[in-house]
Amino acid sequence: MRIDRLSDALGAEISGIDVARLDEPGFAAVREAFHEHQVVVFRDQDLSVEDHIAFSRRFGDLEIHISTDSLLKDHQEILLVSNKKENGKYIGVENAGDEWHSDLSYMPKPSLGSLLYALEISEVGGDTEWSNMYTAYETLPEATKRRIEGLTARHSFNRFRNKRVTIPEQRKEGAKERYEKISPPDVIHPVVRTHETTGRKALYVSPRFTIGIEDLPEDEGQALLDELIEHSVQRDFVYHHKWRLGDLLLWDNRCTLHLACRGIPEGQIRHMHRTTVSGGVPF
Ligand code: OGA
Ligand code: MN
Repeated sequence: MRIDRLSDALGAEISGIDVARLDEPGFAAVREAFHEHQVVVFRDQDLSVEDHIAFSRRFGDLEIHISTDSLLKDHQEILLVSNKKENGKYIGVENAGDEWHSDLSYMPKPSLGSLLYALEISEVGGDTEWSNMYTAYETLPEATKRRIEGLTARHSFNRFRNKRVTIPEQRKEGAKERYEKISPPDVIHPVVRTHETTGRKALYVSPRFTIGIEDLPEDEGQALLDELIEHSVQRDFVYHHKWRLGDLLLWDNRCTLHLACRGIPEGQIRHMHRTTVSGGVPF
């Protein structure tokens, strides 16, 4: 097994292993790299759906995504992140990750990590970026750290409750009703969370899901959110990933944000399978 850093911001590439055939010491090394590097890329994987699910389960229980129209039939643990269409309808989430976010932060127990596997990639576009939310927290001015200490924020899946996002083309028809129907009740999470394994503090807000700061006047909360978001995704904190066929990416949702860069030309297909590992209540 080889582990090579991918950027100054975060990330490591792990090569020389088949994740479907990983013994306990191998898995322990992978887990350690995951906690150290926050995002790990496994190259050249040849995984069945069952392999992908079984490897993901080694990190914890798996979530069934609330976008139930975008799950793989017979394997609901797989969310289809895809621009493929069948009978004129997208088979998965076409716009997944179009704003910076951490998966499932709109749930009482957000995701610990996600595993995205590239089955088909487009020739152009379709890159993904991750930002380091430990660094984002650590580099805040001391005055801001003091200001946000103990603050909590409100998160929602419902795009119609969030001024920072737009309504994607795929979802326009009946969008309001759909978001109202499938969005869980708002949840409140700390603005700064502590990673239960590393003990490090990370900023935990995003433009996609965080809709306000609790216990601050609305305008002041929104201005603070803008400031924290802009700080969090500055280029120095970001790793930019160009996908190769067979890449399996595992990321830590507790200490990173990610973004789909999009830009896929009409007619090109990008097709991926995602599993989502359950996490605990942020503290
Ligand atoms: C996801 C996601 C981004 C992408 O699968 O959770 O945000 O580039 N994907 O597909
Ligand atoms: Mn995502």
